[in-house]
Amino acid sequence: MSGTGTSVRRGRFVTIEGPDGGGKTTQAERLAAHLEAAGERVLLTREPGGTSFGERLREVLLARSASGGGAAPPDPLADAFLFNAARRRLVADVIRPALAGGTTVICARYADSTLAYQGYGAGVPLGTLRDLAAIATDGLVPDRTVLLDLPVELGLARKAPDDVTRFEAEFDLAFHRRVRDGFLALAAADPDRFTVVDATADVDAVATAIAEAVVPGTATSEPGRPGPRSIG
Ligand code: TYD
Repeated sequence: MSGTGTSVRRGRFVTIEGPDGGGKTTQAERLAAHLEAAGERVLLTREPGGTSFGERLREVLLARSASGGGAAPPDPLADAFLFNAARRRLVADVIRPALAGGTTVICARYADSTLAYQGYGAGVPLGTLRDLAAIATDGLVPDRTVLLDLPVELGLARKAPDDVTRFEAEFDLAFHRRVRDGFLALAAADPDRFTVVDATADVDAVATAIAEAVVPGTATSEPGRPGPRSIG
């Protein structure tokens, strides 16, 4: 009884994942421009964030400890709850309505980041994290996930000093290596959803590889120009 004969084709849901410093923000913008040039409506967002609630949690989650000590020890399960709280609002308030209206959604980071950082990196059981994400997202899984892979030393060195988060500043290189390896393990286990792209290549080559992964056959010419837009 619900049919009006005007059903809208659901938009595609694309996530961009990977270790820190891989250029996710730049490449998400390039992909959005590429898809818009091809006539798609695109919504660009990020995690943690994308809603006012999520942006407030982002500040809590990414803030470095105040100098002078006194920081509470890290609690990766608490972090996982907060990332998923932000995710829940982003999915319910932003992503699902956009997809339902036929808009393509590109999200820089999503549930795979929690598996990589809080799971592989910090030791929270993957099953727990999968359960949390399934509850938070009501089972929304990306149609396509691009993993921007690069050696962690390179990624961390690329970050501008004023863009360094708690995870970069307060977790050691071994943690970041586990995160990278975790992402690669997730990609290997789900090759239909993931495409791994070498993020050490130049920015145009990476943009072309991503465009090809998301819409095969369309990346022959200019894979999107950077536009004056910001995520969030
Ligand atoms: P972000 O701005 O994405 O950093 P970058 O530009 O380096 O990719 O910062 C998000 C940080 O939060 C990043 O260090 C990864 C971490 N994170 C988690 O640990 N778990 C999560 O679920 C998410 C979404 C992010």
